[in-house]
Amino acid sequence: MITVESVSTLEQQEVDVLIIGVPDHPENVEGWDAFVQSFHPSIPEWIKSHDIKQDFKQLTKMPALSKRNYDRVYFVGVGKQKELTEQPVRELFAMVGKQLHKDRVRTAAVWTAPFCNEEMTCEDVAYLASEGISLGAYEYEGFHTTSNEIDVSLTSITFITAADEQSVKGAGEVGMIYAHAVNEARTLVNAPPNLLTPTKMADYARELADNYDLEIDVLGRAEMEELGMGAILAVNQGSVEEPQLIVLKYQAMEQWEDVIGLIGKGITYDTGGYSLKPREGMIGMKGDMGGAAAVLGAMCIIGETRPRKNVIAVIASTDNMISGAAFKPDDVITSLSGKTIEILNTDAEGRLVLADAVTYAKQAGAEYLIDVATLTGGVIVALGNDKTGTLTNHDAFYKQFEEAAEESGEFIWRLPLTENDRKRIRKSDVADLNNSPGRDGHMIFGGGFVGEFAENTPWIHLDIAGTSDAASPHVLGPKGGTGVMVRTLATFIERLAAEEAQ
Ligand code: BES
Ligand code: ZN
Ligand code: ZN
Repeated sequence: MITVESVSTLEQQEVDVLIIGVPDHPENVEGWDAFVQSFHPSIPEWIKSHDIKQDFKQLTKMPALSKRNYDRVYFVGVGKQKELTEQPVRELFAMVGKQLHKDRVRTAAVWTAPFCNEEMTCEDVAYLASEGISLGAYEYEGFHTTSNEIDVSLTSITFITAADEQSVKGAGEVGMIYAHAVNEARTLVNAPPNLLTPTKMADYARELADNYDLEIDVLGRAEMEELGMGAILAVNQGSVEEPQLIVLKYQAMEQWEDVIGLIGKGITYDTGGYSLKPREGMIGMKGDMGGAAAVLGAMCIIGETRPRKNVIAVIASTDNMISGAAFKPDDVITSLSGKTIEILNTDAEGRLVLADAVTYAKQAGAEYLIDVATLTGGVIVALGNDKTGTLTNHDAFYKQFEEAAEESGEFIWRLPLTENDRKRIRKSDVADLNNSPGRDGHMIFGGGFVGEFAENTPWIHLDIAGTSDAASPHVLGPKGGTGVMVRTLATFIERLAAEEAQ
C-alpha cells in the first residue's frame, strides 16, 4: 500500500513530483504568492498565456527551475474551485495517478489548498486524492516474461496542508485503504481462471481473515452435501474443482445481532454448462467472480477500519463446467432452503449458487442481505456498462444504500420487481421455482430469483455484470476488473455503524 504523510511545508520532505492545483482564481488560494515566488515569478503570465492550464483536469508538467525539494511539478487545472465536488476531485486525482504511474514516479506531494472550498475540507481532499491516485495508478502485472515489468511504482504521497496534519494524514490513509481494497478486487477479477480456482479464492480469504482477525469457515463438497446445499452442488457437478462456500465473520458488537450479510457470486469460470455459451460470449467469463471480489474487498476495508457493525460475508464459489456428471436442463434440484428448482438453463447458474449462500447467511444470523453478482447480460442491455442494476424488497434499507453509492461515486439504478415477475419465477410444472423464466427483462428474473430466498429479510441485489469488468480504460482505472461496489459496500457499513453510534 502507498504510504501517506502530512506536512505543513515541503521543506520537511523531498519528493519526485509536486502536484499543484490551478483553480480559476489561484491568487485567492492562501499561500499561492509564496509558491509563485519559490517556483518562478512568471507563473501568472504562463497561466494567462495558457502555457499552464486552468481548465478542469488539464495537466501541465514542468521541471523544477532551480534546486528544490521536488524534481518536477504537475500543474493540474481545477476549474471553478468554489463549485468543485467530491467525484470530480476523485476523478481528477485518478488522472494524476495514471500519469504518476506512467512516468514511473516513486514519491509525490499534493498541496491541498487549491482543491478545498466551503463544502470540501483539506481532510476530504486528502481522502479523495489518496483514493483517486491509488485507483488511477493501478496496473495488473500479468504473466509476461519479458519487457514491461512494473519495476518502479508509487510508494508515498505527502499532503502539504495548513490544517491539522494528523487528521489530514488519517483521512489520506483511509482513502488509501479504500483504493487498496478496490485494487485487490481488480486483481482477483483479472486473475486467470486456471490459477484463481475456488480453492485459491478460499486461500485468499484465509489470508484476509488472518490479517484482520476475522473468523473464517470454508465449506467444501462434503460439508455442502451434509447440509443439503443442492443448488451450488448442482452447478459444481461437472467440475473437477472442489466448490467452496467461504464464510467470513466480523463481529464488532458483543451480541451477534443486527448482522448484515454480504453475499458474493464467485463463479471462477462460467462456460454456461450444457446451455453452453457461444465461443465469443465465453471470453471474459473468468470475471464471473466479480461479486465475490467486491465482497472480499469490502471485508478488507472493514478489517482495516473496524466499524461497529456485525458483518457476515458468504461467498459461493465454483466453476460452471461440462462433463458426463454435469447438471443439465430439465434437472430438478433441492436447495438448502428446501425449495425445489427446475433447471431450464444451466447458464443461469449464478442465481443458484446465490440461493444457497443467501439461505446460509440467514441461518447464520444475517438480518439484512446484500448480494453482489455478475448475474445477467440483461443488465448490460438495460443500463450499459457504467451503471449497476439493483433490486430490493425494502425501500428504507435501499434508500440508505443509495446514499452510500452516491458518496462513493458509484452509479446504481433500481429496476422494479413485481408480483407478476415473482409469478413467472414460481411457474414450474415440476418444482417450486424455475431458474430461467424468459429473456424479456431477465435481469429482473435473475435477481428476483435470489430474492425468493431472501424472503422477508430486507434485501438488496446488485447486478454488476456490466460494471465489474471494463472493456477499455475508464476515469478511475485501466481496462479489466474495476472493483466496483467495494467502496459502496464498505461506505454503507460505515454509515450504518456511525448512525447506530448516535
Ligand atoms: N455470468 C453470466 C452473466 C454475464 C454476462 C456476466 C455478461 C458478465 C457479462 C450469467 O451466468 C449468465 O450467463 N446469464 C445468462 C442468464 C440467462 C441464461 C437467463 C445471460 O445473461 O444471458
Ligand atoms: Zn451463466
Ligand atoms: Zn455466470
